[in-house]
Amino acid sequence: YANDGYKLWLQYRLIGDEALRQSYQSNIQEVVPLGDSKTIEIALHELQVGLKGMLGPGYLSVDRESIKNSLVFGRKENLPQTIIGFFDKGYHQINEEGFIIRSITVKGKKQLVITGKTDVGVLYGVHHFLRLLQTNQAIGELNIVESPKLKVRVLNHWDNLDRTVERGYSGGSIWDWHRLPDYIDQRYIDYARANASIGINGTVLTNVNANALILTPQYIEKVKALADVFRPYGIRVYLTARFSAPMEIGGLKTADPLDAGVISWWKGKAARIYAEIPDFGGFLVKANSEGQPGPQNYGRNHVDGANMLADAVAPFGGIIMWRAFVYAENSSDDRAKEAYSEFVPYDGQFKDNVLVQVKNGPIDFQPREPFHPMFGAMPKTPLMIEFQITQEYLGCSTHSVFLSTLFEEVLESDTYRKGKGSTVAKVIDGSLSNKKLTGMAGVSNIGTDRNWTGNVFLQANWYSFGRLAWNPYMKSADIADEWIRATFSNDKAFVQPVKAFMLQSREATVNYMTPLGLHHIMAAGHHYGPGPWVDIFERAEWNSVYFHKADTLGVGFDRSTTGSNAVGQYAPEVARMFNDINTCPEEYLLWFHHVPWNYRLKNGQSLWNGMALKYQEGVDTVAAMVKTWSSLEGYVDSQRFNEMKMLLDIQYKEAKWWRDSCLLYFQRFSKMELPEGVEKPT
Ligand code: GCU
Repeated sequence: YANDGYKLWLQYRLIGDEALRQSYQSNIQEVVPLGDSKTIEIALHELQVGLKGMLGPGYLSVDRESIKNSLVFGRKENLPQTIIGFFDKGYHQINEEGFIIRSITVKGKKQLVITGKTDVGVLYGVHHFLRLLQTNQAIGELNIVESPKLKVRVLNHWDNLDRTVERGYSGGSIWDWHRLPDYIDQRYIDYARANASIGINGTVLTNVNANALILTPQYIEKVKALADVFRPYGIRVYLTARFSAPMEIGGLKTADPLDAGVISWWKGKAARIYAEIPDFGGFLVKANSEGQPGPQNYGRNHVDGANMLADAVAPFGGIIMWRAFVYAENSSDDRAKEAYSEFVPYDGQFKDNVLVQVKNGPIDFQPREPFHPMFGAMPKTPLMIEFQITQEYLGCSTHSVFLSTLFEEVLESDTYRKGKGSTVAKVIDGSLSNKKLTGMAGVSNIGTDRNWTGNVFLQANWYSFGRLAWNPYMKSADIADEWIRATFSNDKAFVQPVKAFMLQSREATVNYMTPLGLHHIMAAGHHYGPGPWVDIFERAEWNSVYFHKADTLGVGFDRSTTGSNAVGQYAPEVARMFNDINTCPEEYLLWFHHVPWNYRLKNGQSLWNGMALKYQEGVDTVAAMVKTWSSLEGYVDSQRFNEMKMLLDIQYKEAKWWRDSCLLYFQRFSKMELPEGVEKPT
């Protein structure tokens, strides 16, 4: 029957290679759980499901008095004296969520031990171990010591209480508020399990455009029920806090963060929440942005607002994630500069339990943006990065775009703030400026669709987000490799072409949507499909024409020193590179420069021809993706195969739609013919 993708990357298919399967079986003749917590029970269950699926039923016993080759797992204090000595050094190398997986021999008997300082660390180790089997790795002589490099690894659900999801394209919200707290949907458990398998340790349940009702007792009771489900999986719950909540649900006359009544209202609210949910993570806040209330409504600033909330949750160990996604109404100059201008002067003023959450780029989750200039520019403030896993600007859940390469490109970007090698990854993992509180947020692409993400392929983006939040230095090629093997097949003839197609999918999308540094030229409002002509909004910076500035002379936003000087917000080395049209990487050309239509690109083509050829290249890559996928029918169950095929066909059609509309539109300004090699619009 149909495989609808519900099982994500936890498919645990029978290992086809007989010899490999037998070698795994002889290494794991039984599993021995140590400890009796809910988390250890979950780890045991996962092993049973995974091993049964991959190695076949009937061989596995669970035995505490083992005499066979066994897989032993438990946290430090639950390990028997006979084996604990093997791990003394290892425990010093891991943090609270880390794990060690090591093969040891005790009294002639081989043991594979998975251990950590906490049961959740052990659970992560168990998932890591299962992944080794899923990807057909050798397990004979293991010695793995791993810890997550970031502390807060959270999904941000932009889910509303009526179960709609802002910018969600995979059905409705998975939180069934109506039937909570008493009805626990199996989805919550499966969600927690999937997140634990990739190390995600937090979830913000509600939209950043927040509804104060979530903070009322009626809802807190429901949130508690979810927190209780998630806790043994190592997942903490967070909520968005609407800044005007003291007025909306508290009956106060103001929400001024310096008002004594407001301060005590939030303190009381925090205490109420923590009484129900002792490990509540804290609040995520969007303030004074796109019409959301905030401290500026009272003549106060971001520091006043964030610190007031930080004080309310501090006694309970909570944190505040305060978003830097702000821009004033009608930023006549340059919206790209606003977050930096508003926040950088506050460096050093936020309380210790505040993380400033910064989008990966200075505009808004475009197919490609240069890294946000705030990274590296606030050395006294912990900054967390926010990626958008849901594809608001990248073809929603219809287009198959592997976002890991986008994430990786940003993380690898060099801010030069402390000389060469000051990458964004080093800013957010705290190593550049010695920060303890670190994090990564991903705007979730999860919904009620049976396959969670509306498109099986986009499960890879949830997966890669988790892997990169665990280790922001991972490579997309390795992540893709793992995901393909765990989700579909270990067959080389399948893995290699699919990996190649994944790794080029994002560049293809950049090419057919916004090549050479173009950005924000999507359709009005919903952002699906092309709309470079959009000029209908009163707010200038919501219009495409604001961003591309095409005219008869050329195209692109001059952010150089002759224009808005947004380049000035980067470290001098980076600013110089972007500022000079000759050294500015061509991927960012039209982001930083207004360029004449006949400007010569590095490949010798005029800008107009080069742009047209890029659009064509994007279309051609999608055509190749369709072809590749079509050739792989035998490797995938028919349901997942057909779904992907239909989606890729749509993507191909729409890549042409993008190419034709953008080129016809820009041609009005360039007044030049399409070059050879670019299909004429029909
Ligand atoms: C984008 C998106 C909004 C969202 C906002 C945010 O502008 O279109 O729907 O609320 O980002 O990140 O706050």
